[in-house]
Amino acid sequence: MALWRACGLVTAYNDPVADLARAIAGPSSCVLVAEKAAGLIVGTVMVGHDGHRGWLYYVATDPSDRRAGVGRALIAAGEGWLRDRQIAKVQLMVREANAAVLPFYEQLGFEETPRIVMAKWLTPSDGDRQS
Ligand SMILES: CC(C)(COP(=O)(O)OP(=O)(O)OC[C@H]1O[C@@H](n2cnc3c(N)ncnc32)[C@H](O)[C@@H]1OP(=O)(O)O)[C@@H](O)C(=O)NCCC(=O)NCCS
Repeated sequence: MALWRACGLVTAYNDPVADLARAIAGPSSCVLVAEKAAGLIVGTVMVGHDGHRGWLYYVATDPSDRRAGVGRALIAAGEGWLRDRQIAKVQLMVREANAAVLPFYEQLGFEETPRIVMAKWLTPSDGDRQS
């Protein structure tokens, strides 16, 4: 949770504790971590699939451990997890305000895909929600 906060991935409209609990409950999702030493987490990726496509969320490397290949290893691990489950394609969403991260994904073989993502909240709002 601290890592996600340090990486700017926690928003007012997401509950990271609930996200983490659901993801690790599986069976079609998990959170993979990179450890610098036993128990010292420096990177994460949440990976899951819906039987059709695989999705990555919470891709994060501790600010002090960036540009050392951690992110690359996390993406490879997420892709491997999906391949092991016969999922043929992996996708992810990048917030418009976070476009600076696009070269990272491009470097790893991702490309922008021409789709319009539509969304709808299914729970009541208590205020500050954005897309
Ligand atoms: C994106 C992020 C996970 C990258 O992690 P990382 O561990 O630094 O990535 P790597 O060292 O494995 O980088 C792999 C390659 O991606 C490219 N890359 C990584 N960060 C980059 C950046 N900020 N700008 C341009 N290219 C970048 C580089 O080509 C790099 O290889 P190189 O270092 O040999 O040049 C990290 O910057 C991060 O946690 N950002 C904040 C959270 C976030 O925005 N996550 C994505 C949400 S969609």
